[in-house]
Amino acid sequence: MKALLASLAPLVTLALPLGCSADDAPTNVTGGTAGTPSASGSGGTAAGGAGIGGAGGMDGISGTAAGGTGSGGMGTAGMASVSYARDIKPIFEGSCVYCHYTGGILIDIANPFAPTTGLVDSANTWAMAHPEANLPTRNVTPGNPDQSFIMTKIGDPNLSPSAGAFMPWNIARLTDDEVSAIRQWITAGALNDATYAATVQPIFGTPQMLGTKGGKCTYCHFPNGEIPNLADPFDPTTGAVGLESERVSSLKVIEPGNPDQSFLMTKVTAMSLPQAQGNPMPFRPAPLPAAEVALIKQWIVEGALNN
Ligand code: HEC
Ligand code: HEC
Repeated sequence: MKALLASLAPLVTLALPLGCSADDAPTNVTGGTAGTPSASGSGGTAAGGAGIGGAGGMDGISGTAAGGTGSGGMGTAGMASVSYARDIKPIFEGSCVYCHYTGGILIDIANPFAPTTGLVDSANTWAMAHPEANLPTRNVTPGNPDQSFIMTKIGDPNLSPSAGAFMPWNIARLTDDEVSAIRQWITAGALNDATYAATVQPIFGTPQMLGTKGGKCTYCHFPNGEIPNLADPFDPTTGAVGLESERVSSLKVIEPGNPDQSFLMTKVTAMSLPQAQGNPMPFRPAPLPAAEVALIKQWIVEGALNN
């Protein structure tokens, strides 16, 4: 995972000027729209993690995409040119499952073939909420990319408001006020108190907010994830307060009383970081390269197989 993120770093930087604000995203991701799988608390296996393809895999992907997009493998059952396991899964794991993880409230892209919660064949909640917009009614319609909402989500950066946000979802940087609220909280001892609840927790997010627009960190920093759990930064083993940074061994993620020695402050204020220190936070997934979009399209054309 770390290796992949490091290799994405230049793309992430390039994406910054293009970024749309998270304010463009709908406000009631979890509410209103029938059919959204409901939250299952803190559940969910860690997104991402082992098995994310490295640079070698990506090279293989581009090669396949270049040859595979045109004529397609329609009608050649069992002879698909695109393999889910080899070609598509690494894309999903690299760019989608931070947020679309198993047990989360969004469609599960870590396990796309799960019958009711997975990506394939699931109902598009935006089409239900906006029948007038004529959107594809399914997120993936096997064999038909034009009737697959995922292609709109990853292929059209200028989505209409009735189609929600472009994927992967761009997350806005923290405002100056948010940064200073966190700084003050750390200076005062990073306590689990009323100030934390009123000023910092809404910035980090809570388990109830996972996958929604509330909070800017817990989409990814969720309980049982691989990175500090900012839904409960006080947890003595999986949280952030007083725990050593994985990235910079000389620093704590949050050192109570000392924001200048808290790696978290660097993460949320730096516009770029040395490769060894990972990405500025909140992390902004880069748009998918055209070759990856083409590959996903071809996978759908060939029937969105679990192959
Ligand atoms: C940083 C978090 C995040 C990432 C990364 C992300 N998504 Fe999403 N996704 C969301 C949120 C939040 C929603 C609900 C709001 C919306 O549709 O705009 C959503 C909704 C969707 C939907 C619509 C589902 C429906 O039924 O309405 C699709 C399809 C989708 N994402 C696909 C993807 C794909 C494919 C990727 C990877 C290329 C991806 N997402 C990456 C957060 C994310
Ligand atoms: C879209 C996903 C995502 C979002 C949103 C996000 N992070 Fe992260 N964060 C990661 C990933 C992945 C890593 C590990 C790789 C790295 O350090 O770049 C990480 C690492 C970190 C680290 C380093 C931990 C260590 O041990 O060195 C800190 C601190 C951090 N994030 C803070 C935040 C804060 C604060 C926010 C909200 C303002 C935030 N993150 C939002 C994905 C995210």
